Amino acid sequence: MAQILFEGTKEQMHRLMDCINEHRSEKGALMPVLHEAQNIYGYLPAEVQTIIADELGLPLAEVYGVATFYSQFSLTPKGKHRISICLGTACYVKGSDKILEAVEHELRITCGECTPDKKFSIESCRCVGACGLAPVMIIDGEVYGKVTAADVKGILDKYMQD
Ligand code: FES
Repeated sequence: MAQILFEGTKEQMHRLMDCINEHRSEKGALMPVLHEAQNIYGYLPAEVQTIIADELGLPLAEVYGVATFYSQFSLTPKGKHRISICLGTACYVKGSDKILEAVEHELRITCGECTPDKKFSIESCRCVGACGLAPVMIIDGEVYGKVTAADVKGILDKYMQD
């Protein structure tokens, strides 16, 4: 598994603490604080979950439970280029699992991870409503349809330069 070290800045910590202080006395403080933490860091690192748990006086398991339950929260960093492979039924029967394998192989990370240079991250998704183009891969919102494993390197090369 590719290890990404957490690197928070003082300014980010300042913003997080401002948000915690703003919501500290509220009953449902956890959700708004997690939302803001995700905005600040782009994901919810374990270190940040620990700070939130300590500051709000909640068990870490509760913070982790909420962070993993809601799909809008991510526990892993996202890359500059976000690759999403549709594993919905239509795409899957057309071999999107092979596309995913090819992307993982090319970037040397697995689904859910980010490359150490933070350039790419891979995730899977459910049907995006483009079944006629199956199998579908999406990079930064751009949809690639009828992709084959052999196409993957050429598509990724376009994003390698920037
Ligand atoms: S199943 Fe992939 S777009 Fe519908």
